[in-house]
Amino acid sequence: MVELKKEIDKLKREHNAVILAHNYQLDEVQDAADHVGDSLYLSNIAAKTDCEVIVFCGVRFMAETAKILSPDKVVLLPEMDAGCPLADTVTGSDVRNLKRQHPKSPVVCYVNSSSEVKAESDICCTSANAVKVVASLPERKVIFVPDANLGNYVAKHVVGKELVFWDGVCNTHAKVQPGDIYLMKEKYPEAKILVHPECSPDVVEAADFAGSTSEIIRYAESSTARTFIIGTEVGVLCQLRSTQTQKQIFLLHPGLVCPNMKKTRLQSVYDALLNKRYKIQVEESVAEKAKQAITRMLEVV
Ligand code: 13P
Repeated sequence: MVELKKEIDKLKREHNAVILAHNYQLDEVQDAADHVGDSLYLSNIAAKTDCEVIVFCGVRFMAETAKILSPDKVVLLPEMDAGCPLADTVTGSDVRNLKRQHPKSPVVCYVNSSSEVKAESDICCTSANAVKVVASLPERKVIFVPDANLGNYVAKHVVGKELVFWDGVCNTHAKVQPGDIYLMKEKYPEAKILVHPECSPDVVEAADFAGSTSEIIRYAESSTARTFIIGTEVGVLCQLRSTQTQKQIFLLHPGLVCPNMKKTRLQSVYDALLNKRYKIQVEESVAEKAKQAITRMLEVV
């Protein structure tokens, strides 16, 4: 592992590359990365980097977002079939249909969506800025795709808006039930329960805090509480356990493991740099329109 990491560093220098890793990546991948964070943070880094090559350790929509923001860079996704089933629940044509049904309503799309969906949308959002993005729109009625749980969370936190939802959910977060929270509260009454807004509304309601992966990490780092129950993908828990050694950190549900995020291993990162694979391409006309929606989001926050 140490040798592989050294080889990766060498290739990185040779290719003038930067390695970005989402908070859900395996520890070995997060350790090799230059930047680790949530979707919003990584999008900002991808937009500003001077490096010629971006190795995006995450899933396809994240790498596509990086390519759209930095079209002159080579963007590599180390595992070609690391996708997002939530993103696949909605297509560009579904969004066009929604726009026909609600012609005066802007479309907000969660970044967990394809480039085609982004191209059909007025503005993107991530879980870290969804409330701010929707609140920034002058229209009262807003179409929100594809995550209905995040949409519900937004609807509760923005005043005076009506949201039209798509019924997509994240299969991993959907496994969590309110009963899991009650069980954990019984076992660890002092614990803070921190969940992702991709969890169902009743789970979010029963938790102490809901936020993006990085917001969950910051909450646990800065809180004086000693015990935390994490209601998002296990990668966040691994990261917290290594830095917050004085605190007890537990996973809310054993099924909080995203199979797509776990496809990328340290070896995949090495192979990606060595063979310059898998190069992300986004069709120019799609990329141009999608970029407007992403850039508009980055300007809100
Ligand atoms: P964050 O934006 O909170 O990192 O979440 C991304 C994601 O895909 C959650 O499942």
